[in-house]
Amino acid sequence: MHSARLTINPAARIGAINPRLFGSFVEHLGRSVYQGIYEPGHPLANDDGFRTDVIELVKELGVTAIRYPGGNFVSGFSWEDSVGPREERPRRLDLAWHTTESNEVGLHEFQRWLEEVGSELMLAVNLGTRGTPEALELLEYANLAEGTARAEQRAANGRTEPFDVRIWCLGNEMDGPWQLGHRSADDYGKLAAQTARAMKAFDPDLELVICGSSSSSMPTFAEWERVVLTHAYDAVDYISCHAYYENTGDLKSFLASGIDMDHFIRSVTATADHVKAVRGSDKTIDISFDEWNIWYNSRYENVDKITGVDKWPTAPRLLEDEYTVADAVVFGSLLITLLKHADRVTSASLAQLVNVIAPIMTEPGGGAWRQTTFFPFAATAANARGVALDVTPVSGTYETEKFGGVPLVDAVASLDESTGRIAVYVVNRSVDDAASLELDLPARAGADTFTVTARTLSDDDVTASNNRENPERVALADNTTITTEGGVVRVELPAVSWTEILLTPQA
Ligand code: AHR
Repeated sequence: MHSARLTINPAARIGAINPRLFGSFVEHLGRSVYQGIYEPGHPLANDDGFRTDVIELVKELGVTAIRYPGGNFVSGFSWEDSVGPREERPRRLDLAWHTTESNEVGLHEFQRWLEEVGSELMLAVNLGTRGTPEALELLEYANLAEGTARAEQRAANGRTEPFDVRIWCLGNEMDGPWQLGHRSADDYGKLAAQTARAMKAFDPDLELVICGSSSSSMPTFAEWERVVLTHAYDAVDYISCHAYYENTGDLKSFLASGIDMDHFIRSVTATADHVKAVRGSDKTIDISFDEWNIWYNSRYENVDKITGVDKWPTAPRLLEDEYTVADAVVFGSLLITLLKHADRVTSASLAQLVNVIAPIMTEPGGGAWRQTTFFPFAATAANARGVALDVTPVSGTYETEKFGGVPLVDAVASLDESTGRIAVYVVNRSVDDAASLELDLPARAGADTFTVTARTLSDDDVTASNNRENPERVALADNTTITTEGGVVRVELPAVSWTEILLTPQA
């Protein structure tokens, strides 16, 4: 057993936790929409064709804002195809994922679903194969109350009230050579700046996200951010980060993936602040970490990719990764990293939501279940409220091939000032040993004034997962090792585990 210690100090504030940190992402990709959230004919479908069992799981997950409709998909998408009478909507090839899009679900249907799950729409415009005029047409269609052709078209399509979308993505991963309409930083920066300025002329209060790098390992990383922000600094509010991690067989490095995410966030904020300084601006650009997850991308690249151009399927099984306990522990640690940067990461989207690299899985005509990654997300989204607190633990380190020496224990806390509740999120990265963790509480709020509980995700078999045959194999379990004495909380953290500790003030 190794030991670790942390101190909860309400003065060690990182920043307010923006609820949008617990956003997600629905792309027209694979079985995310069709057979995922939408399956008319399913015994549990509502009158709109949306699965109510999935709606309930999405609510339980607690996602706040949902990015839509892509992803790579958006870079070849014509939004006009997805509105109006369904029987008149064209079927189109989706060149990003080599599938056929029926356009059966579009903006109106998706907004109705969002109202069911209680989430906000984060809408992406196509800056790949399209440009500023089409983005403006969509903005007018979505947000103008009345009085123009587009506003009247929306009303004629059944929605008098505007959608009033507040947060918009200016394209997707435009730094990636795989992206339709991929551009240089200079070209994209000019296009994004022009589009953002036009959108802000319509409504200066819109929140606009410019594309940053698709990962910190892109050859253009950091210079891309500098160039696009130099073009568009005054007109945008966020720069995006995207990061996916996978276990390539080196579990120790995989468990330390948060180190990479942390470095990514620090580098992007430093770059944004450099541009701010050069311009003498008093405006600060935040990060929208609008794609993050575990993704076995190598499996998609090598096995699942659809080739050829004829008979591209509708809603094929794509990117349906089955997540293990180890995946969920890393996933939980990524949430810890995001919270550790709550002052600058004020929007984030777990990519994705249903069936496609997702916390929720479904079978057509059958059940829906929670993947292992569901649990850390749902717990954190439910209880990490208020302000994030820096609680950097004192612990041993271990050696990794990718990152060198890495702390065995990582943690962050939140304090909900309206209730006094403290939540602590902690990961034990040791592959061999449990950790004995001590938490010092502030003197005037000793452990005895709190009800203290803990829940842990771990398993003797770190490859255990939930699936169709065994949908409840893995879940969070109460951690009964927790004790309190004289202002100190002690808890054991199994090897390769993620834990939530809740300190609820006694009445
Ligand atoms: O989330 C899957 C894909 O990953 C998205 O479409 C793209 O933006 C990213 O490369």
